[in-house]
Formats: sequence, C-alpha cells, structure tokens
Amino acid sequence: MKRIPWPAPIMPAVCKIEEDTVHSTTFNDLYFSRSGGLAEKRYVFVEANHLEERFRRSRKVTVLEFGFGLGLNLLSTMDAHTSASNDCVLDYVAFEKHPLTKDQLRECFSEVIGTHAHAESMITNLPPLLSGFHRIVLSPKVILTLIYGDAASSIKELDASVDVFYLDGFSPRKNEDLWTSQLFTSFRRLAASGATFSTYSSAGDVRRRMSYAGFDVRVKKGFGQKKTCW
Ligand SMILES: C[S@@+](CC[C@H](N)C(=O)[O-])C[C@H]1O[C@@H](n2cnc3c(N)ncnc32)[C@H](O)[C@@H]1O
Repeated sequence: MKRIPWPAPIMPAVCKIEEDTVHSTTFNDLYFSRSGGLAEKRYVFVEANHLEERFRRSRKVTVLEFGFGLGLNLLSTMDAHTSASNDCVLDYVAFEKHPLTKDQLRECFSEVIGTHAHAESMITNLPPLLSGFHRIVLSPKVILTLIYGDAASSIKELDASVDVFYLDGFSPRKNEDLWTSQLFTSFRRLAASGATFSTYSSAGDVRRRMSYAGFDVRVKKGFGQKKTCW
C-alpha cells in the first residue's frame, strides 16, 4: 500500500516592508521592484505571454508559477482574465516554499501595494500553512492550486499540461534552487504544445537552460532597470 505523506507545517516567510517594496530576510532579495509591484508583474509576466489574447481564444489556460509570494502575478493575471470576459477557465498553479501569513499580506497591501479588487478574497481563501497541494476555487472560472513546499521536490508530483510558465523566484545568485537544470528539465514533461514562459532574469544560464528545455528564448526591454526573457 502506498503511504500518503502527512502534511507538515511549513515555515512562513520572514520579510519586511522597505522603501516602497517588500524585502525577504531569508533570501536577502526583493519581492518586486520599487517601481511598482502590480505594474511590474503585469509587464513581465501577463503582457509578455499575451494572456488577455490567449484567454479570448481558449477554453482553458494553465499557468504554472515558481514563487507565489504576495500573489501579485495571480492578481495581474486575473485582471487580464476579467478583461477578456469570456468562458475561458484560468487554471493557476503556483509553488511556494515560504508563504506569507494572511496578516503579513494584509499589511503589505495596505502599506505598499495598494488596493486590488480581488486581493482580500485571495487572502481570505488562502490555505493553512501546511505542506502539499491546496485547491482553491476563487470563482467558477478561476481555480488556484497552491503547492506549499520546495518546488524542486513537489514538481515530481505534478501532472499538468502547462500553457504558460512564470519564473519568478528570487535572483539566481540569491536562490539557486529555483533555477536548476533539473527543474528546467521538468518543463519538457509539463509543457503543452505552444507553451510560453517569461522571467525578469536574463542571466545567461537561465537562457541556456530554457533553450535546452525546448523554448525559443528572446530578451526584451525590461520593467524599470531590468531585462525580461520570454
Ligand atoms: C520574487 S518572490 C515571488 C513574487 C510573486 N510571484 C508575486 O507575484 O508576488 C519569490 C518567491 O519564491 C519563493 N521560493 C523561493 N525558493 C523556493 C523554492 N525552492 N520552492 C518554492 N518557492 C520558493 C519565495 O518564498 C518567494 O515567495
């Protein structure tokens, strides 16, 4: 008989609000640039992957995100989904090793991010801080699967047909675990035909590994000071 692992408590994020952004003490890096959280995520992830257009012409779009963080990518993706306003289902799957608590999130939104139509409902529906897969129905057409734990080990349990990959770990120099070739190799197994990806990191290693995983890689002008890969 297969043993079903018991969910283990997971260590929440250690972070602080700092000069218009949120700083991770654990990774010594920023969750988003000082130029604006939601605007950055929309540019680097939602627009680079042409999501609004894809919602218009698809019945279902599956997004796989590496690093759920404050949920800004989810909220920006939901904005594009709402604008497309058709019957497309948004199937949003995200890994997170150190989730922020609901209190931390509420503080970040009220102090630095600002209001967003879906922020409070996202926060209220977040699962307990236990490892494993958590499925949350945010609306009849928006399903969130949050996978709490280390992406490198949890990805082995994931069976999905992914249309869009969001690589939003902290910088490869500060957090190698989200940028390993083993992780990128899993993309071949999970990618649907026509899958795309984007990331704010234009590091040579990241570009080479995504090429090896079968993606055609281009660099475009980034948000603020950074470059964007897609
Ligand atoms: C730049 S933040 C992500 C910001 C987020 N995408 C957003 O829209 O708010 C990077 C996230 O990756 C998570 N992370 C770091 N290493 C991880 C790992 N090995 N597995 C899963 N998540 C990880 C961090 O805890 C952090 O929340």
